[in-house]
Order: sequence, then C-alpha cells, then structure tokens
Amino acid sequence: MKITVVGAGAVGASCAEYIAIKDFASEVVLLDIKEGYAEGKAMDLMQTASLNGFDTKIIGSTNDYSKTANSDIVVITSGIPRKPGMTREELIGINAGIVKSVSSSLIKYSPNTIIIVVSNPMDTMTYLVHKTTGLPKHRIIGMGGALDSARFKYRLAEALGAPISDVDGMVIGGHSDKGMVPLTRLATRNSVPVSAFLSEDRITQVKEDTKVGGATLTKLLGTSAWYAPGAAVSGLVQAIACDQKKMFACSTLLEGEYGLNDLCIGVPVILGRNGIESIVELDLNQAEKDHMVQSAEGVKKTNGLLSS
Ligand code: 2OP
Repeated sequence: MKITVVGAGAVGASCAEYIAIKDFASEVVLLDIKEGYAEGKAMDLMQTASLNGFDTKIIGSTNDYSKTANSDIVVITSGIPRKPGMTREELIGINAGIVKSVSSSLIKYSPNTIIIVVSNPMDTMTYLVHKTTGLPKHRIIGMGGALDSARFKYRLAEALGAPISDVDGMVIGGHSDKGMVPLTRLATRNSVPVSAFLSEDRITQVKEDTKVGGATLTKLLGTSAWYAPGAAVSGLVQAIACDQKKMFACSTLLEGEYGLNDLCIGVPVILGRNGIESIVELDLNQAEKDHMVQSAEGVKKTNGLLSS
C-alpha cells in the first residue's frame, strides 16, 4: 500500500507520522515544493521508526511527482493555513491554484488513486478536485467532518466529565465556523442521549465550541492546528487501506442525497477499499435539515468564487 502526502507542513507531516505509527502502509511519499524540506521531514520521521516500532518506509521529495507514481491513496494538504482572525474561505484565492495544479500532477502518475482533500476551504477544494480531475465521485473525499466530529467528541466528553471512549457523536455540513452541523440530538454517552446528562444550555455551548474548534486553536497557536487534522486524515487513510467499512463524516459530491446537488459537503459515508462505498442518509429533524440547507448555501457561495 503506497500513500502520498502532498505538503510537508505541520498537517502533512503529522499525517505521515500517524500513518507510519499505525504501520499498515508499506510506503509513504512526502512531497513539498520547498527544497529539501520533505526529505528532511522524512529522514527525521524515519529516525523514529526503531523507537516507535514501525516498518513503513517514508520517502521525501522536492516536487518530483514521478516519486508518487502508483499511489493507492493521495492526501492533499498543500496551500496556506489560516492566521488568527481569518476564515477558511479567505484562503481560496491562493489555495485554489495550488490544489488545481497538485491534483492534476498527482493523477498523471496515479490515475487509479483515491484522493483525500485537506486544504481549505476544504469543501470547495474537494469540489475543485472533482472539476479538475474528473475522477469518479467515490474516489474524492474531503476530510473536514472527521476532524470536526473528533472536536465535537472532545467537547462532549469535557461537558459530561466522561472519558472520550464513552462518547459518540458526529458533525455533518460544511467545514466552516457557520456551516458545521453538530448532531447533538444523536450524540450519546454509552448509547444514552447526552440530553439525559446535560442541560439545553450546556448542549448549545458544546455545539458552539465545536463550530469554532479550528478558530480557537488558530488563535492559540498563531496558525491552524495539525495534530487532530493529521490524526483525522490517518483514520480515513487506514479505513480505506484496510477496507474497514468504517463510518465517518466526510465531504463528498452530493447528487440528490439530503436534497442537495452539485456540491461537496460533509455527510456520513462508509469508507473501504473503493473509497466512499456508500453515503448514509440520516433521518434529520426539521431544524437539522434547515441547518444543512443553510450550510450548503454557504458552501455554494464559496464554490462560486472559483470561477472569478
Ligand atoms: C482545522 O479546522 C485545518 O481546517 C483545519 O484545523
């Protein structure tokens, strides 16, 4: 199993690290445009192999796409991260050009690959990869919902005073502060709805803290987060590589599901060796449906900036 990660910045490198530590891939190629940078990160990571007990071979390359040939899965993290106070949408001008050229170069060498998109604004970049590559929809996956759901579980566990392993929950919708739809009604502690333990006000607080999960970290770190994004990507890569048929919220092209069309947005999907094996349609209540429609409008507005 060969995996390529484009972008050896903080997100790309932690993604490569988590993939290697889980030890299911034979090879990870880390690619960056900055001379020697990916080679350096790859060497540093390889020097953790004996310490962390993995056999995955990590290879760094400065922009040589021939090294990525025949990758089973590729991850695109390239582009600029947001700075404190910026929205993900504001990155579109620079990142759209980068994602377009990276995705075209990748599929020249790996026409049968599955692409995971991390670059922001993530739903729009996933849509752009569709338009650029023309790959079948099940082979293009946007990462945001998996990360947002992990942040939701963190906030739920904090509110409940419970270990994370007691908690389950999912965030669908767009990967943006306003667009996220944390499904609090369906969140549980050991299959008991969280409303049995938390007041309505506390649940609302969890929801709001989840939606600004990335912005909160950007303010603290001065740039966007990397551990949880890297771990979220590695979870998706593992589910595909190991044909786990696991369910994650991911951005995917909708063609009528959830009453939405011609956009990529986060919904529950089953991930296996073919990429997105199926889309799971949840029975949402009216408030959740309205929130999804509003979220989709936001994503479409950002998609509209692509052509300008
Ligand atoms: C985040 O939310 C990088 O968009 C990513 O941290």
